[in-house]
This record gives sequence, C-alpha cells and structure tokens, in this order.
Amino acid sequence: MSHGPRSGLAAVSSALLAMSRHLEVRDVLKTIVASARELLDAQYAALGVPDDHGGFAQFVVDGVSDEQWKAIGPLPRRHGILAAMLDDAAPQRLADVRRDPRFGGWPSAHPDLVDFLGLPVRDGDEVLGALFLANKNCPKPDGACGFTEDDEELLGILAQHAAIALTNARLYERSRELTIAEERSRLAHELHDAVSQKLFSLRLTAQAAARLVDRDPARAKGELQQVAELAAEAADELRAAVVELRPAALDEDGLAATLRTQVQVLDRAHSARVTFTGHGVRALPAAQEEAVLRVAQEALHNALRHSGGSHVDVTLERRGNGAVLRVGDDGDGFDPHTVRRAGRHLGLVSMRDRASGVGGRLTVESAPGKGTTIEMEVPGG
Ligand SMILES: Nc1ncnc2c1ncn2[C@@H]1O[C@H](COP(=O)(O)OP(=O)(O)OP(=O)(O)O)[C@@H](O)[C@H]1O
Ligand SMILES: [Mg+2]
Repeated sequence: MSHGPRSGLAAVSSALLAMSRHLEVRDVLKTIVASARELLDAQYAALGVPDDHGGFAQFVVDGVSDEQWKAIGPLPRRHGILAAMLDDAAPQRLADVRRDPRFGGWPSAHPDLVDFLGLPVRDGDEVLGALFLANKNCPKPDGACGFTEDDEELLGILAQHAAIALTNARLYERSRELTIAEERSRLAHELHDAVSQKLFSLRLTAQAAARLVDRDPARAKGELQQVAELAAEAADELRAAVVELRPAALDEDGLAATLRTQVQVLDRAHSARVTFTGHGVRALPAAQEEAVLRVAQEALHNALRHSGGSHVDVTLERRGNGAVLRVGDDGDGFDPHTVRRAGRHLGLVSMRDRASGVGGRLTVESAPGKGTTIEMEVPGG
C-alpha cells in the first residue's frame, strides 16, 4: 500500500464504517468489494456467494462498467480457481492466473486478469463466499508488482467483515421467514374462527330466503335483510383479520354486549334457539377479550353446524379477576378423543391455542348423545 500505517488504518476503518451503515446485504457486499479494490489498489474486485447448484446466488463486482458486465454474459460457474477458494477454502495468490493449470479461460468480453488474490469468506468451518481481486495497479507500467503478503492480510480482514455481514443477513432473513409463518397461522385462525362462521350463517340464511320467496315473500324479505347484515359483518371480520385489528365491536361495546349481539344474530339466522346470559363480568385485558370472543364464535359455529341440537346457550360470568365462558348445546355430542388433531379440523385446536395463548384453560365436555359444553376460563388482569 502506498499509504503510511496511520492513513492505512484510517482507510480500513472508514471502509468498515461504510459497511456497517448498510442494512441490505447487497449494499454491504458492494461496499466491501469497492473498499477492497480501493484499499488494495487493484483494477478489479469481486465477491461471490455460491448457491446449491454449482453457481452463484450473489455475485458483486467493482471496476467493471455496466455495459462491460452485460457483455460478459452469464455468471461464472464454480470451477477452477473459484472452486479452489470455495470448496477447499484455500487462499489463492497468483502472479498470473492465465498460467495456472486450473485456468479454464473466460468469455470474450471478460477483462484480462493477470495477478490475482482471492480468499474464502468463512464463518467457522463454513465457506460463505469468496472475495477476490485482480490486476494490482503498478506504479510503473509493466513494472513487476502483484499482490503481497500484506495485501493478503488486509483482504483477510475485509473477508472477515464480509462473513459477519452475510451471517447477519441470513439471520435477518430467517427471522423474517419466521414472522411470515406466524402471521400466516394467525390469519388462518382468524379467518377460520370469525369469517367462515359468518359465511356459514349467511349461506343458511340465503337458502332459507330462497325457500320462502314464493310462499312468503314478506318473510323472505326479512331473511334477505339478514343476509345483508351477515355479509356486512363478514366483511368487517375479514378486514379486521387482514389488518390485524381487534374486532371494532369489542372496543365500542365491550365483550358481553358484543357476544349478546352476535348471539342475537345467530338466533335469527338458525333454527336452533341461541341465548346469551352475562353475569357481572368486568372488562378484561384486550387480548383476553379477543380470545374469549373468538372461542365463543367457534364453539357456537360448531354447535350450530355439528350438534343437531335445538338449544345453544352461551354464558359469561365473572370468576375472581377473570371470567368463564360456557357454550353448551343439547345436541348429539361427540367423543373429543377421536377427533383427529391434524388435517381439516382446525376449530378445537384453534380454541385450545387461543385459551393457552392468554394464560387460560379450555375444557370440552361431550359424549355421544349427551350434548356438548365448551368451557374457557381466563385469568383476568
Ligand atoms: N358441538 C358439537 N356437537 C357435535 N359435534 C361436534 C361439536 N363440536 C365439534 N364437534 C365434532 O368435532 C369435530 C372437530 O371440530 P373442529 O371445530 O375441530 O373442526 P370442524 O368444525 O370439523 O372444522 P373447522 O372448525 O376446521 O371448520 C367436528 O367435525 C365434529 O364432528
Ligand atoms: Mg369447527
């Protein structure tokens, strides 16, 4: 390097600072490659991150114009000297790459590389990529220069930083994927518990209206008003699920009033009698109210869809600081142990998840011929 030791250190330091200012992995890699080229005074620099198919997932170059880059054509495959750095994690310092026995030629538009310095970018035993330079600028044209041991050491430092940047980027990607998976499952539960329930009621009400339309147009009209109401509610639930809002009714009316209204709607929409009783329940923490509402919705849905009963009763009562929700029907009942946990049946699993998610407990009491009672206890604030 032409710089003295202090200015050399300052240059390295400013390169490292520049790297840490970027969040996007590609920007970090670009900064590393540009800094390497500048600090080591080379004509070309590149960094390649391999993929699983013998090619490169990322390939960043510096010292090559966009037109030149396009003219070169597709990314290199991993063979020859690139493979030696990536697969054997071996540093390569060569006076003339073209004379190396592993050299396999390059596309016609590729710049002519002579002296070459390349290092694996590694995290422990794992090779994440390769950082390499070519054509060190010589003070005198045609003077013998090439990369030195000091250059190799400096490039080693940059390679270590590249490793950190790549590792961080991977961690970031993974955490984002996790968040997406969680978000998916939240949305699936939300759609299942709230939206599909409304659509089920809507379908039944529409069928009832169709049956009545010739015989009793006035009642058919009433049913159709129900259809409109249920459709509006389904749309609200859908919107809430998508933007992750808590159902607006909970904020406006509180849990008991929200349950009462929903029960009234279901009572009108279905042939079974659906009732609600509330006993002195105080407001609960938002997450708990939401969980109770969702469990009530699914339990009601199941009772109306599966039980064949003529009564469904919902009660909400205070217990300590918390509350107990009960949804009971006088229908056929079922054996909870024989319901397969996986697959198409999401309801019971979702109710359990919601209860435990807010520190509560869910019990299912049911036996064939004996009706079903779902009980959920939440601890309160
Ligand atoms: N109140 C009930 N009365 C009778 N059987 C019920 C009742 N609740 C649930 N079941 C039975 O338990 C099974 C599982 O219920 P669950 O809610 O997990 O799934 P599902 O309602 O079939 O489908 P999903 O809720 O995913 O739309 C139901 O298919 C039904 O056979
Ligand atoms: Mg269900």
